[in-house]
Amino acid sequence: MIRINKLSKSYGNKLAIDNLDLHIKQGELFGFLGPNGAGKTTTINILSTLLKPDYGSISINGFDVLKNANEIKSSIGLIPQELSIYEDLSAWENMMFWGKLYGLSSSLIKSKSIELLKFVDLFQKKDEPVKNYSGGMKRRLNIIIGLIHNPAIIFFDEPTVGVDTQSRNFIFEMIKSLHNEGKTIIYTSHYIEEIEKLCTRVAIIDFGKLIALGTVSELCGQLSYDEKFEIFYSEDDTSKNQKTIIIQGDDVKENLLGSLQQIKNHNQIINDIKYTKANLEEVFLYHTGRKFRED
Ligand SMILES: Nc1ncnc2c1ncn2[C@@H]1O[C@H](COP(=O)(O)OP(=O)(O)OP(=O)(O)O)[C@@H](O)[C@H]1O
Ligand SMILES: [Mg+2]
Repeated sequence: MIRINKLSKSYGNKLAIDNLDLHIKQGELFGFLGPNGAGKTTTINILSTLLKPDYGSISINGFDVLKNANEIKSSIGLIPQELSIYEDLSAWENMMFWGKLYGLSSSLIKSKSIELLKFVDLFQKKDEPVKNYSGGMKRRLNIIIGLIHNPAIIFFDEPTVGVDTQSRNFIFEMIKSLHNEGKTIIYTSHYIEEIEKLCTRVAIIDFGKLIALGTVSELCGQLSYDEKFEIFYSEDDTSKNQKTIIIQGDDVKENLLGSLQQIKNHNQIINDIKYTKANLEEVFLYHTGRKFRED
């Protein structure tokens, strides 16, 4: 359905996408996970024909992004990372404006706008200027603008940035229901927990390169543990000559208790105990040697 072959893109001498190969199947809720600047938006913008690749080829439903941009535009919906709504207009007027840009008939725009505004719980507020909306309401409007032409493939570029928990959950439920309707969804985020919660398959990218690809459980399965404890201990509480025991594998909790007892029996001081569960953050660390987020 979406085939990306050997895609590269630079801005000046800054390489943003580096020889990316990726195939996304119909009906997937596909996660695109990467830290800030990894190349997520650049990829999404190339897929949506807004940016031209330097090298490589991309086809969506058999259409080439360079040669068949019009066919591609009508089958995809882009929910951009930057809000693309007019603050002085009402939600209703925004929908009319974008519907016209897609060349839809007035009656279709109206019926679809009513359906979508109800879908995101904005119908009651449809005539208010958007500048009076909360961040979450603006995000919801931004989303349905990308859906007005009923696209089969939807790109969500960080749709939850700057929204409160309630709106975030709302957006998640929306995405799930679009997925259940059979839409193919590509979801980019730098929030690991979101991707783990939502996506059927995940590509992790870093500096424009694909570093891991699979379901969340396949990716976590690349690690040597499901969960592990690390005990940091030393002779005294100055933490000098600190030693570490790592406990992983079967029966971690029983083994933890045993190890703690032994350390105590040898009159050593426990400085810290760290618990780690296999997750995509650990997968990123495993592949790159770096933390996903610098704390
Ligand atoms: N218009 C531009 N001009 C120059 N450099 C750019 C431009 N757009 C992006 N870049 C650079 O290209 C790289 C990839 O950026 P991109 O926006 O695709 O990343 P991202 O994964 O979407 O990041 P974020 O999580 O911050 O949205 C970054 O190093 C970025 O600074
Ligand atoms: Mg981005």
